Order: sequence, then structure tokens, then C-alpha cells
Amino acid sequence: MGRWLVLGGTRFLSWTVAATAVERGHEVVCAARGVSGRVPDGAKLVAVDRDAPDGLDALRGERFDAVVDVATMSLPWVRAAVDALAAGAGHWTFVSTINIYADSAARGQGVDAPLLPPREAADTDVPNSDPDAYGAIKVASENAVRAAAGDSALVVRAGLICGPGDEHDRFGYWPQRLARGGRAVVPDSPGQPVQVVDVRDLADWIVRCGEERTTGTFDGSGQRSTLGAVLDEIADAVGAHELERIPVAPEKLTAAGVNPWAAPRSLPLWLPESHWGMVDRDTAPAAAAGLRCRPVADTARASLDHERSLGVDRDRRAGLTPQDEAEILATL
Ligand SMILES: NC(=O)c1ccc[n+]([C@@H]2O[C@H](COP(=O)([O-])OP(=O)(O)OC[C@H]3O[C@@H](n4cnc5c(N)ncnc54)[C@H](OP(=O)(O)O)[C@@H]3O)[C@@H](O)[C@H]2O)c1
Repeated sequence: MGRWLVLGGTRFLSWTVAATAVERGHEVVCAARGVSGRVPDGAKLVAVDRDAPDGLDALRGERFDAVVDVATMSLPWVRAAVDALAAGAGHWTFVSTINIYADSAARGQGVDAPLLPPREAADTDVPNSDPDAYGAIKVASENAVRAAAGDSALVVRAGLICGPGDEHDRFGYWPQRLARGGRAVVPDSPGQPVQVVDVRDLADWIVRCGEERTTGTFDGSGQRSTLGAVLDEIADAVGAHELERIPVAPEKLTAAGVNPWAAPRSLPLWLPESHWGMVDRDTAPAAAAGLRCRPVADTARASLDHERSLGVDRDRRAGLTPQDEAEILATL
């Protein structure tokens, strides 16, 4: 069993990585401020602020068998982490994103596809506010990790992560909406590609890669499917009764001010054709390297439980409100 460091560990993916590593018998240290939540039982929190100068000093020079960094939009965080810790790390995982690719439309691409030009910083620290800057900072971050951690580096370019603990309100919109029944607005785009990964599967794979010293760069997402098939699977999984799905043409949704993918007044999972390449990636190499993805139905049931624990009537970061939906239905 090894000594693991998770840079993060208080929310969603990094929390699930830490919890999985604990379950698999590792000694787990999580380094975060501790303001987003608690670290998993069995893990130890070392309080650090990566925005502070020398914020990682509490860990400098320590040795770990495996380090996992999820730094989202900060190249200085990534550089400081590899500077302080890479020399003493047996394996280094950096969680990147499928937003790093230059061509969002081309379908079936793999990790050798052209990337956005690397970028040092963005005007916002919110990925959805500037997806290109988010992707470009991840390109620069990947480069910094490879330069410092070299042969021990694993780069996981994650697709849409969903499941328990997700606070982005994207995938979870659909299980709660379809479970509610009634007349539900759905994009009339059943053939659109969709690709998601359950946070538990991604975390399990990341931990096993650390154990097995798997290195290289992978697109970490699930099987290629379609919007129609995924919505069918979710509806079946959550036992949607007395549900009538009302397909609305993408042009009409756009005219009604409905955003694709994320944001208030949006339909999550829906994407314009210009972005279909982001959800139709060749993930066979990740599968060959051990990424095992559960059926969407399982993720849908777990997401519904999570949605209910958050409160399905809360203000959402993504999705349609009942009022939004009624307005759209009234225009048909
Ligand atoms: N969600 C998706 O669908 C998706 C898709 C593709 C890729 N990704 C990538 O997946 C990863 C998601 O990571 P995540 O789920 O663990 O969530 P996250 O929101 O990236 O949070 C990660 C950790 O950062 C810590 N943190 C924030 N500010 C800090 C600071 N100043 N100093 C020290 N620690 C700080 C947080 O803890 P405290 O706040 O407690 O300090 C938290 O534990 C990211 O790399 C993201 O880019 C996500």
C-alpha cells in the first residue's frame, strides 16, 4: 500500500479519488483549504492555500508514491506543485479536460489531435465563462507537468464527469426532470453524440493507474452514445411515469433563449454540431488501459439520489425551471 497525496480532496472528483484510494488501503493526504467540504473518512487534511505565495510549503520535500492534481484554471498552481513535490513522487496524475482540443467539431478524434495554443491565464476563474481559456490553460498545465514529472506522468483529459457529488447541475438535470414526469422539453436532436463518465469510474481508474504506474495521455470518458439513447436510458432508470417528452427543434430552442450544455435556462447534454467532437472522442485507448464505465442507468439512479439530497427545487446552475419550460411549451 502506498502513500498518496491528493491536491484537493474536499469535493467531487478529487474527493472521490481520495475516498477510493482510502478504500483500497492507501494512506491518503489531501491538501486543500478545507472550505469546499470535508475530506473522506480515513484521509488526512493538510490545510494549504495554493493562492498564497509558498502555499505548498507545508508539503515541500515530502515523498509520496502517487500524487493527483486537479488544478482547474491555474498554471501557477500546477508549476508550484511540480516544483515542490515532483522530485519525491513515484507517479503524478494531472486531471485535464477534453476542452483542450483545437477542433471541437471533428468527431472520433484521439489524443494526438491538435490542441489549443497554451495560455498562461484567463480573465475569469470559471471554466464555463471562457471554455477556450480553460482549455488553453490546461494545455500549458499539461506541458508543465510533463516537463517536471516526465516519465512518471499520467494526463487524464476528462469528458463530462457526472454522478454523486456533482454540483454543476448538468447531467443531474435529466434524471430529476424525467423522474418528475409531465410534459418535458427535450432537444429534437436524438442522433447527437453524447459521452459522459461517472465520477466513481474515473476515480477508480485514476487510482489503479497510480498503483500500476500507468503513464501517458488519455481521453478519460465513457462509451460513445447518442442523446436519444441516453435520455431513454435515464428515463427507464429513474422510472419516469406519465412523462411526455416534447422534442423541440434546436433552432426553436435557440430562438427561445435556451442555452446548450450549461448555464441557467439551458438544456444540459445538448450541444450544437460545432461542438459534437467534444462528446464523440475515441476513448478506446483509455478502455484498453483499464477505464471501465458503468451503464448510464446506474449513474442516472445515483444522480437522482444526489439531486434529491440537494433539493430538486433549488436554484440550478444549469437546466430549465418549470417556468422556463412552460414558456417554451406555450410557443409551440
Ligand atoms: N466537472 C466536469 O465535468 C469536468 C470535465 C472535465 C474535466 N474536469 C476537471 O476535473 C477536475 C475536477 O476536480 P474536482 O471535482 O475535485 O473539483 P474542483 O472544483 O476542481 O476542486 C478541487 C479542489 O481544489 C481545492 N481548492 C480550491 N481552491 C484552493 C486553494 N486556493 N488552495 C488549495 N486548494 C484549493 C478545493 O478544496 P477547498 O475549496 O476546500 O480548498 C477542492 O478540493 C478539474 O481538474 C477539472 O478541470 C471536470
